[in-house]
Amino acid sequence: MNNVPARQLIGGAVAVAVALGFYLGVAKNGVPFGLGLGLSLLGRIRRKKKIVRVYMDGCFDMMHYGHCNALRQARALGDQLVVGVVSDAEIIANKGPPVTPLHERMIMVRAVKWVDEVICDAPYAITEDFMKKLFNEYNIDYIIHGDDPCVLPDGTDAYELAKKAGRYKQIKRTEGVSSTDIVGRMLLCVRERSVNDTNNHSSLQRQFSHGHGQKLEDGGSGSITRISHFLPTSRRIVQFSNGKGPGPDSRIVYIDGAFDLFHAGHVEILRVARGLGDFLLVGLHNDQTISAKRGVHRPIMNLHERSLSVLACRYVDEVIIGAPWEVSRDMITTFNISLVVHGTVAEGDDFRKEEGNPYAVPIGMGIFKVLESPLDITTTTIIRRIVANHEAYEKRNEKKSASERKYYEAKTFVSGD
Ligand SMILES: *[C@@H]1O[C@H](CO)[C@@H](O)[C@H](O)[C@H]1NC(C)=O
Ligand SMILES: *[C@@H]1O[C@H](CO)[C@@H](O)[C@H](O)[C@H]1NC(C)=O
Ligand SMILES: *[C@@H]1O[C@H](CO)[C@@H](O)[C@H](O)[C@H]1NC(C)=O
Repeated sequence: MNNVPARQLIGGAVAVAVALGFYLGVAKNGVPFGLGLGLSLLGRIRRKKKIVRVYMDGCFDMMHYGHCNALRQARALGDQLVVGVVSDAEIIANKGPPVTPLHERMIMVRAVKWVDEVICDAPYAITEDFMKKLFNEYNIDYIIHGDDPCVLPDGTDAYELAKKAGRYKQIKRTEGVSSTDIVGRMLLCVRERSVNDTNNHSSLQRQFSHGHGQKLEDGGSGSITRISHFLPTSRRIVQFSNGKGPGPDSRIVYIDGAFDLFHAGHVEILRVARGLGDFLLVGLHNDQTISAKRGVHRPIMNLHERSLSVLACRYVDEVIIGAPWEVSRDMITTFNISLVVHGTVAEGDDFRKEEGNPYAVPIGMGIFKVLESPLDITTTTIIRRIVANHEAYEKRNEKKSASERKYYEAKTFVSGD
């Protein structure tokens, strides 16, 4: 974990201040008046180093790297990040049923490496009472939100109270992805499949699901335009990375997969895998490999997007962006892999029957282990949930797409990262 507890940092600063105080006092005059100086210095540093606690809320339904990036930016505005996750009942009342229930959303949010505390059952809109609770009970200094407007059904700004109190800070909205966009990708994929399963849509699908900003016309129910705004940068990858390799004598565990539509099932298997060693290396298969194995409609999220989601997970130490399908001896040597693992719940899990078992080498070396998956969720589970609520989601999506289109049309440059 890369988050050094703030308390530890402060302890360090205080110790330095005391030592510095004594040192200065004794060195200048040869008499121990340093205590006073030390204490005043200590007071100043303590005041300066007060722990700043920031709060951010959200539904975090079908959590993606856009959410993670918002949490990263929020965390950077303080020392500790408290995240409020909106309850299922509140989401249903305000915008229709969530795809992922609260317990899964909690697993997702807790697993983000920039999150220090989580409050479940946060209200959809911050009321005056809840704001007071945040300030007084949770010791929150600032409430954070993205630069996109958050307007309540009655037309008021959801963060007006916090702004008035001077306790509001803004972050830049992450380009390129929103839950609406992802649901759109799934709905389109489902619609196309039902219209013509045999038709060869691979190039269309590829442009669509890989964020090339392609306009798509929907022949069926009128014309829709979906534009993906994802602009992957090398800096974003760096921001999400832990930036350090394994320490000496580390036991390195390797797990590979698609990790498409990163969900609670993924988080849980990564947690178990990390527990078997000191360093978890995750191999992400490239888009072509996944399309070949699971059909042209997959992956829903492209390799860059999947990499960011996995990197944001606190149990992950490093990611191979485009890992080979087969775990080779060379790879095991290169990364000094001690153990290769695979969950019991996985999609297209017929590798044993395959002619070329991708795990043949680690099995032969006696370093392969099948892990009991804690949750019975796969990417297909998530897609099925969307399909089951097809119409409700489409309606909700149309409404949200319109407001998002408006946002992009009115958008101006906002500094920040
Ligand atoms: C479905 O695909 C087949 C083969 O590409 C094609 O001949 C047929 O016209 C398609 N049907 C529809 C409804 O698009
Ligand atoms: C799909 O179409 C492309 C070119 O349009 C072709 O190269 C490819 O072989 C087709 N795939 C299948 C499964 O028919
Ligand atoms: C390789 O991994 C083993 C643990 O499996 C560890 O004992 C050894 O020190 C590692 N080698 C290096 C060079 O870090």
